[in-house]
Amino acid sequence: MVKIRHWTLPNGFKAHVSENDLKLVEEDLSEDLQQGEVLLESVYLSVDPYMRIHGDPIGPHKTMFGEACLKVIKTRNGEFPLGTLVLTNSGWRSHYLSKDGKDLRSIPYDLGSLSPSVSLGVLGMPGLTAYFGLRILEPKAGEICVVNGAAGAVGSLVGHLAKQQGLTVIGFAGSDEKCNWLTNDLKFDYAFNYKKISLEDAFKKAAPKGVDVFFDNVGGDFFHEMVTKHMAPHGRVSICGSISNYNDTEKHKCISYS
Ligand SMILES: NC(=O)c1ccc[n+]([C@@H]2O[C@H](COP(=O)([O-])OP(=O)(O)OC[C@H]3O[C@@H](n4cnc5c(N)ncnc54)[C@H](OP(=O)(O)O)[C@@H]3O)[C@@H](O)[C@H]2O)c1
Repeated sequence: MVKIRHWTLPNGFKAHVSENDLKLVEEDLSEDLQQGEVLLESVYLSVDPYMRIHGDPIGPHKTMFGEACLKVIKTRNGEFPLGTLVLTNSGWRSHYLSKDGKDLRSIPYDLGSLSPSVSLGVLGMPGLTAYFGLRILEPKAGEICVVNGAAGAVGSLVGHLAKQQGLTVIGFAGSDEKCNWLTNDLKFDYAFNYKKISLEDAFKKAAPKGVDVFFDNVGGDFFHEMVTKHMAPHGRVSICGSISNYNDTEKHKCISYS
């Protein structure tokens, strides 16, 4: 028997997420595998903002959902030898039993010396979100790109990719330390601490003629002010997320921009 642990979410998340929302449960799992089965141990679990949106209980015994990177520790499936690293949506659990391996995805690239965690980050969902969310904006060299949540998993990649494509990149983040990282390490052209400076003042300096492409991770007042006051003619907006609202308990009314 293997002692496995998994997190359940008995009552869902309410307003601000608290550690009491989750419950750690221990169970025994048989190690006597049937033909085709694969026993895996979690190496990395993903923790992403979208999980907060799923506020409803998922059932008292169900495991908190999410993608994970796992290692094969016992196998009766020739496709998944011992030690293989795979990805699957097994959630927040220490171990996972796959019945036939069909729900497992091998990591399709050589990680070299990189941590396998990159398969859940830059090479996983946040990376794809940044890449395609920026691509639909049809960015052109010389244009001005604004990204908020800029020091986060998605935002930092958006800025990085936009810089590579020759845009002037302006990031907004919530601390001076994050802003310094954006300009010094990621080479953003400007980074502003939105807790200290208004958008109006930031753009007087960085984009007096308006913004061409806006990648929105934050929503709420930031989004509203951007689209009503700071976009340039023919500007494009990618609405990726609205993290400023995820803890709100009341539903928001749509704003009419007509
Ligand atoms: N991760 C994904 O694969 C994925 C996929 C689709 C969509 N999205 C969306 O993309 C956005 C960013 O996700 P992420 O994975 O990059 O998140 P992340 O790495 O967890 O970063 C989130 C950052 O958002 C900022 N933030 C939080 N509350 C805020 C508020 N009220 N106002 C302004 N900023 C706030 C915080 O940074 P500061 O300290 O700088 O404020 C926080 O660190 C989210 O809206 C998410 O729903 C993510």
